[in-house]
Amino acid sequence: MSVYWDNFYKNLKGNNNPSKFAKFCLKYLKKFPGNIYDAGCGNGRDTIFFNQKKLNCIGIDQSKKVIGINKKKYNRFKKNFIKKNFVNFDYSISNDRFAIYSRFSIHSINYKQEKKFFNSIKKFKNLEYVFIETRTIYDNLFGKGKRIGKNEYINTHYRRFINPTEFKRKLAKDFNIIVFKLSKNLAPFKGENPVVLRIVAKRKKIKK
Ligand SMILES: C[S@@+](CC[C@H](N)C(=O)[O-])C[C@H]1O[C@@H](n2cnc3c(N)ncnc32)[C@H](O)[C@@H]1O
Repeated sequence: MSVYWDNFYKNLKGNNNPSKFAKFCLKYLKKFPGNIYDAGCGNGRDTIFFNQKKLNCIGIDQSKKVIGINKKKYNRFKKNFIKKNFVNFDYSISNDRFAIYSRFSIHSINYKQEKKFFNSIKKFKNLEYVFIETRTIYDNLFGKGKRIGKNEYINTHYRRFINPTEFKRKLAKDFNIIVFKLSKNLAPFKGENPVVLRIVAKRKKIKK
């Protein structure tokens, strides 16, 4: 799949302005002392936005192409971009409280990867927040292209459309859900205005 994204970024598509979601999340992150991991950072627009707001954000992406472009383009922040799979990433490098921010990347991973990702991150005592914005089964693109599994389609590339109720149920085991919003007008882009899901969740305290 990273071949699709390598080609996508090679052709320099994409929007360089910070997303509406990043601006929305800022109110929870003001003066946040630890790292914010932008999981599937793409062209780094939100990674850079958070850094410009004096937060320490690290962009992780599996696309070698886009990480290379980001490092060159944002030379001052080149150490803040890492080419890795965010599913397997070792978040234990964070000694301090940390947060995970995923905009439009949860629907890029399959069920097995999602399970692996959440099973891994929930073990970190110092994980404080997760911020997620994702496509859902209420998206106009849902059902288009080749169906390869439950809510999974290939239409130019792989997408797994999230069922909000199921996703909330899974997340609620380990996280207190602070924001759960399913709506249009959250992520309009180039004439597209999908119904997306926004979640802000706080890690439940891990008993010692
Ligand atoms: C739709 S783009 C979103 C980019 C950015 N978050 C934004 O909102 O502009 C999805 C990105 O997630 C990355 N991605 C997908 N699965 C990944 C994984 N397992 N590990 C790291 N990056 C991944 C892709 O390479 C791509 O850059």
